[in-house]
Amino acid sequence: MEGTRIEARAAFPQLRMRRLRAGATMRRMVRETRLSADQLVLPLFAIEGRGARVPIDALPGQARMSPDLIAATARRAYAAGVPAILLFGVTYRKDAAGSAAYEADGVVQTAVAAVKDAVPEMVVMTDVCLCGYTDHGHCGVLVDGEVHNDASLELLARTAVSHAEAGADVVAPSDMMDGRVGAIRAALDAEGHEGAAILAYSAKYASAFYGPFREAAGSAPGHGDRRGYQMDPANGREALRETLLDVAEGADMVMVKPAAAYLDVIAGVRAATDLPVVAYHVSGEYSMLKAAAERGWLDERLAATEVLTGIARAGADLLITYYAEDAARWLREEVA
Ligand code: PBG
Repeated sequence: MEGTRIEARAAFPQLRMRRLRAGATMRRMVRETRLSADQLVLPLFAIEGRGARVPIDALPGQARMSPDLIAATARRAYAAGVPAILLFGVTYRKDAAGSAAYEADGVVQTAVAAVKDAVPEMVVMTDVCLCGYTDHGHCGVLVDGEVHNDASLELLARTAVSHAEAGADVVAPSDMMDGRVGAIRAALDAEGHEGAAILAYSAKYASAFYGPFREAAGSAPGHGDRRGYQMDPANGREALRETLLDVAEGADMVMVKPAAAYLDVIAGVRAATDLPVVAYHVSGEYSMLKAAAERGWLDERLAATEVLTGIARAGADLLITYYAEDAARWLREEVA
């Protein structure tokens, strides 16, 4: 989107903007942003067990699933054209150090192996964080009641290595500790996982839009909030500093999260780096659309497509969205 060029000096009535909007075929030809299923990543929540499916009230249409059903869902999504999933673990086994996050047979590790077995071509991404595994619900370990940055790094790196060990293609640290990308890269390489990529949640804001996710993952902090490590929604320039630091530490892809209220940040990050830029259309953003659509206040398909297209137009190469399967279907129907 660049500004005024010479031809814009022409004016009405010689210039008529509506000429290129006449008819669906013409509009299709001059469309600037083309969303493709290749850009979509579907988040999934893994729980222990077999044949287990527990719907998530605050995320209509989404459920926590045991590894066998995660694998079946991944297979269906891949067949629909969605190339990747992002896995989260949900467990009631929590302790102060979040040790269930880095067990070899933990819930995410088991689900990764099941998906890799069922759909080897699918790209499997894993969320690396401790909040779903700590009894206090914070993203790192506590020292004197505060999340301790450096003490958390080793556990996050151990978590990432255990995911790669299970077969994850991409590990995605979402904890927002300083230095975690470098620590994870070093640990992966030391353990022979130099092929595992890092998707850094670089500009992750302390957002109210994570509400439904925290219900899904049971990961709300027991005391306080995450403003001591996640970014202040008022800050844009800081997002570029965060991003460039992650790039310097060895990130392969960078992320802006949430997406729709941060389109300027996506555009800024796009301009600041040549790495693939990923945007996370988060739980609250999805649930808002769902709730309005359920009441008949919005056309869900049109509204969701508009938002996802806007995120891509802002500069996102990849979109993590709970709408991934629907969007892949809508895109296919549009072409047909
Ligand atoms: C873990 C994490 C969160 C999300 C992704 N990873 C929650 C949080 O930071 O509280 C949110 C995703 C969503 O809302 O869809 N730290």
